[in-house]
Amino acid sequence: MLKLSKIFENGKAPDARPDEPIGVLVAAPPELARPFMDLGPNHPSGVHVLATTRDAMDLPDDIRNFKPQVVVISPEIRGYSPDLITRLSKWPDFPVAVIGLASPSGAWGVEMTTLGAIAFYSVPVTPGVVTQFVDEARGHLAQARLRWTRPLVDGEVGWRPAAPAAPAGYRTGALACWSTKGGDGKTTLAVNLACLLSVVAGRTVLLIDADMNCGRVALHLDIPPTQNTILHLASDYQANGNKLEIEMLRKRTLTADAALDSRTKQVEGRLFVLFGIVQIQQGSAGPLFGKQGQQFMTDLIRLAREHYDFVVIDLGSNTQMGPHFGALQASDQVLFINTSDRSSLYHNRQTYQALVEKADLRADKFKLVMNRYDPDDRIDLKDVAEFMGLPVFAVVPEDRSRNVIASVNQGRPFALQYLQKHPPGAESTLRGMLSVAEGVYPPIGKTLGDARNSKARGGVFGLFGGKR
Ligand SMILES: Nc1ncnc2c1ncn2[C@@H]1O[C@H](COP(=O)(O)OP(=O)(O)O)[C@@H](O)[C@H]1O
Ligand SMILES: [Mg+2]
Repeated sequence: MLKLSKIFENGKAPDARPDEPIGVLVAAPPELARPFMDLGPNHPSGVHVLATTRDAMDLPDDIRNFKPQVVVISPEIRGYSPDLITRLSKWPDFPVAVIGLASPSGAWGVEMTTLGAIAFYSVPVTPGVVTQFVDEARGHLAQARLRWTRPLVDGEVGWRPAAPAAPAGYRTGALACWSTKGGDGKTTLAVNLACLLSVVAGRTVLLIDADMNCGRVALHLDIPPTQNTILHLASDYQANGNKLEIEMLRKRTLTADAALDSRTKQVEGRLFVLFGIVQIQQGSAGPLFGKQGQQFMTDLIRLAREHYDFVVIDLGSNTQMGPHFGALQASDQVLFINTSDRSSLYHNRQTYQALVEKADLRADKFKLVMNRYDPDDRIDLKDVAEFMGLPVFAVVPEDRSRNVIASVNQGRPFALQYLQKHPPGAESTLRGMLSVAEGVYPPIGKTLGDARNSKARGGVFGLFGGKR
């Protein structure tokens, strides 16, 4: 697995010596443990199995007795619980590289790495998997040592680490979706987050399409923007001597609830939308250009924040454009969308650091979201968090079922379309989007939990009842 830090900073991870013996403890049911048994005490690689167990209860004693450098663990052992991964990867006496064995379906592997596992391999355990493990074991150990010598705070990457703990402890406010590259999923996540917070969680939400490279929110929702665009409002604002009143904003926003669900009987809407520009050259029109655009955006967000529970802003990638920069400044939180493409991570980090250091943006308002995550991309989430210097706020797996893109083509947001009933391949992506929403607004988890306990079956509610 490539390590980001190695590529860009000549890696400081102390490599395990090439001839150093590496002892492995395998905690897995017999059929998964057996292929590792070829790694006997005299295996030429120096990687050898010290013991096996199939009970989580035995692990602490085994670790004390055998002092393994690596623990390979399957969630199928007796007594497994996710915090076991966290405990092992923070073993107090010496570094332990925790390696997961995960079923290729679902988000098991991703969860394990966010809890502290260095890497995971998909089951079944074939001879090829064992060979790969042997090849990579030294790298895993080096990574574990690097983490272990760090202060604990660096290792606090959890499944939902940044979510406020108390259900009442959420903050409303303005959330900007941003990354430095097209295609990372800003629009997709902005639209789905806005829908989840409004239609599902019942908060009032204003969704603003502020992408100066051309707005696409209207297409995602399949609602024609007509006179309800950000350029119309920016022109009203300029004509009003750069002052914005709530009536001006209301006049330019549309209620989307009824369009999204014809069964909506609500009189008052919850999801309001200000659409984006429809041609790229509109982004350089006077009311949106440079300082003027920046000031407009700042005033818009400040006003909107007072009148809606959440303001979700879809941005374009270029921070030099007035409205984008204004939105980054005025937002309470920035959902900083990254994918596992290292070129995008590198550029994202540079830009993020410049925003914090040179433009004085608060570092802690950036929430690192990994979108389109796929373990096959061979990038480790812990490594990403370390490289970016930010904890992972949420992970949205790549939707291999193609339903995310299909929903754009159908003009019906993915999360709404599949909340009740979804094809199995879409489940982990849906769950990822929910974890973004829950990170921002924890009570949504309770809403869904309550629904789960009612009669709802087979839909996303089932997700929360699974073995997690
Ligand atoms: N988690 C995901 N899984 C699969 N496809 C995704 C996912 N998120 C976004 N996409 C797809 O990626 C493409 C780019 O997404 P988009 O939201 O338009 O990115 P951006 O706004 O950052 O340019 C779209 O085709 C979208 O359907
Ligand atoms: Mg976009």
